[in-house]
Amino acid sequence: MNKEDSILVTGGAGFIGSNFVLTWIMEIGSPVINLDNLTYAGNRNNLQSLDRDSRHIFVHGDIADQALVSDLLREHKPKAIVHFAAESHVDRSIVAPDAFIRTNVFGTFSLLQSARAYHAELSADEQKRFRFLHVSTDEVYGSLGPDDPAFSETTPYAPNSPYAASKASSDHLVRAYFHTYGLPVLTTNCSNNYGPYHFPEKLIPLMILNGLEGEQLPVYGDGKNVRDWLYVEDHCSAIRAVLDSGRPGETYNVGGSSERQNIDVVTTICDLLDELAPSDAIGSRRKLITYVTDRPGHDRRYSIDARKIRQELGWEPAERFESGIRKTVEWYLANQNWVENVRSGAYHQWIEANYAERVAR
Ligand code: NAD
Ligand code: TYD
Repeated sequence: MNKEDSILVTGGAGFIGSNFVLTWIMEIGSPVINLDNLTYAGNRNNLQSLDRDSRHIFVHGDIADQALVSDLLREHKPKAIVHFAAESHVDRSIVAPDAFIRTNVFGTFSLLQSARAYHAELSADEQKRFRFLHVSTDEVYGSLGPDDPAFSETTPYAPNSPYAASKASSDHLVRAYFHTYGLPVLTTNCSNNYGPYHFPEKLIPLMILNGLEGEQLPVYGDGKNVRDWLYVEDHCSAIRAVLDSGRPGETYNVGGSSERQNIDVVTTICDLLDELAPSDAIGSRRKLITYVTDRPGHDRRYSIDARKIRQELGWEPAERFESGIRKTVEWYLANQNWVENVRSGAYHQWIEANYAERVAR
């Protein structure tokens, strides 16, 4: 594979980014320059299988370091930048929003500046081919009522958490670089992902690991908030489709048509654990469910209308929720070493900080 088919991925040591890098190397096979500054959510173990693969070039650094990014772009001449790097956890954004503004807003701005300078230096043919793909979220659209139509690409932005506001802000900057400077950008707004390498502060991996160990399963509020779940490899295939055939300047919503109430997700995990890892000492995992104080400003429902990417690009998710969640539970059971490594001192501090104040209801 030619060097000119290389891509620069940011945040490729995180949950979705590492799944993307692994599947890119498998499906496409061209070189990946992976820029990640290894925050608590970045984990080089996710990419261990590529340790001896010369197509994966890991660079430890910040997206806001314009000198570093410009050097990387000039050296490797990637045909695209796929931008995952972000602070991504809503609860952390409520406790400490600063890092979200720094990375999601300023970091994206800085990366756009580097990309713009690089794009300007390319030949006309290279410019035509170049893409800046910005990975965003459905949370920018705000919250839906039970009967509201799903989010489409024209739904007005109404972010409710500092995380969602920082992502909305980055989406607007990306859009502006297309209209003002002609940078060929693409934006994807995806629903909640789940699958291997998911950091266990988010709902699904937290419930799997707590359930496995017989710990409480903390469900916020009444447990009836709805998320539209997508298996992470389906998100990766959607990004590849948009990169390949998406129209510059356009946004594409990506979702799994798998809306579930949180309580249903949690009971499904409980039943899978009882089946796959039965324990006489723990008994039925459903008994561990504990309703706790709600998240402030908790969005009630997300739902994605993914007709545009399906119709324009022929993308379809391969996994249904039932098959994807089974695979995910099986992955966590089979990868206990990975789990032990991510649960560092910093992880325990977060769990203590987030749940100590949430009294059981
Ligand atoms: P994650 O938190 O697991 O990973 C983020 C990665 O970015 C980490 O490896 C981290 O080290 C890196 N990073 C953070 N700040 C950086 C910086 N300044 N410079 C370089 N690297 C930096 O996040 P994720 O769940 O994999 O999400 C990836 C992207 O997808 C994010 O942009 C997120 O907003 C978006 N997204 C996530 C979901 C989801 O359900 N997880 C859904 C839709 C969209
Ligand atoms: P999360 O995985 O944090 O994703 P997001 O907030 O980006 O949707 O949470 C998913 C849902 O699960 C959300 O409605 C909040 C809820 N939740 C709990 O009920 N308990 C928990 O311990 C966590 C982390 C989340």
